Amino acid sequence: MSTSVLQQLREIVGSEHLVDEPEITASYAVDFTGRFVGHSSAVVRPGDAGEVAAVVAVCKEGGVALVPQGGNTGLVGGGVPLGGEVVLSLRRLAGVTDVDPLAGQLSAGAGTTVADIRAAAAGAGWAYGVDLASRDTATIGGTVATNAGGLQVLRHGPTRAQLVGFEAVLGTGDIVSHMGGLTKDNTGYDLGGLLCGSEGTLGVLTAARVRLVPVSPERVTAVLAFSSTTAAVDAASLLRRSLPELQSLELFLQSGLDLVCRSTGASPPFGAAHRAYLLAEAAAQHDPAPTMAAVFDSIGAIEDVAVATEPAQRARLWRYREDHTVAINALGAPHKLDVTLPAPALATFVDRVPDVVGDADPDAVTWLFGHVGDGNVHVNVTGIEPDALTVDDSVMRYVAELGGSISAEHGIGTAKRPWLHLNRSDAELEAFRRVKAALDPAGILNPNVLLPPEG
Ligand code: MLT
Ligand code: ZN
Repeated sequence: MSTSVLQQLREIVGSEHLVDEPEITASYAVDFTGRFVGHSSAVVRPGDAGEVAAVVAVCKEGGVALVPQGGNTGLVGGGVPLGGEVVLSLRRLAGVTDVDPLAGQLSAGAGTTVADIRAAAAGAGWAYGVDLASRDTATIGGTVATNAGGLQVLRHGPTRAQLVGFEAVLGTGDIVSHMGGLTKDNTGYDLGGLLCGSEGTLGVLTAARVRLVPVSPERVTAVLAFSSTTAAVDAASLLRRSLPELQSLELFLQSGLDLVCRSTGASPPFGAAHRAYLLAEAAAQHDPAPTMAAVFDSIGAIEDVAVATEPAQRARLWRYREDHTVAINALGAPHKLDVTLPAPALATFVDRVPDVVGDADPDAVTWLFGHVGDGNVHVNVTGIEPDALTVDDSVMRYVAELGGSISAEHGIGTAKRPWLHLNRSDAELEAFRRVKAALDPAGILNPNVLLPPEG
């Protein structure tokens, strides 16, 4: 990057918000897992949409590539400067700017954390329908850019289903804003829906308006044990059918539970070991416990059950599932292969994929957990080098063979670009490229993400 571009960026955001000290820029250049490590000569921290637009315009003019970054909680290398790009940090655009209790909506700057969105919603007598383990760090801008899923997709849908307004700076440098939040608004292309999940390749989200959902104050959390994956998957289907109050339905296995207990010092939920576990949470205006208990009674395959209604006990059960991420990370940078399977293939996939991984690399160790209510399995693989691709290749191909998606909720990022063609036709990829060329004509926005390299 030329000194003139650097100087212009400094003038836009102010010296204190143009970071070029290597020891600080380095902290923006590595992802949460440690698998993706890049480098950057500068981190720009604009304070409003106008400054973001000015930064994009200068970089477009100078042919300087940018990587937009929120809380840097992504898991596919989509938010780190792998090619030496300038990091465009949106964290200063933090704050809930408008809460409308009448409509059940709120607006917030891109740098607002999901936890702060959830707190603002609660303060207005509503709830936000997206929740995820990284809630304290993940930002609304990042979760919109990746169409983040999380723990309540089953009930409320992914982030795209919450988005009712957006403000963004396109790669052209133009600010586009449609923050009205009208539920019915058929006035042309759904630009917000397109930017959502575009992983910073078309525009930089600067603000979002989201719908809120009714509060469900009565909650019951349960961990159920099964002797086979098939029994757990069948029970998951029955729970979805019979329990409209169901909000989360998660899967983990004995090996993951053992790892979590070893790494956190927690005692296991049951005296005996089991093959598979479901964590089910029901939430409603009225106590869902009696209905839940009746449904559990009808599932003969349940081998053991732990039920909690008190917040501390519910949190204890959740930790068996949520602590998987950190416990696996502690083993060394994992390959995180987040995939969805069609329901009939789900149990087979869970049972077979460790062999697929082992055939690709005998040193690899597979850890499986995920959002079984959405058909979403997180295949985590440790014991292999960050840049080794044989395991990823085998798993991606196996997923596609079974009719699944190679990315359920984490996005394509840099990690899965080589396999996007398994889920998208040439015609679709060409359409993607044309959209990219129209909204980011200089190709400066996150150029190493999502679209497969050409040629
Ligand atoms: C989760 O479901 O816990 C998140 O997607 C993070 C992860 O996959 O590790
Ligand atoms: Zn997840």
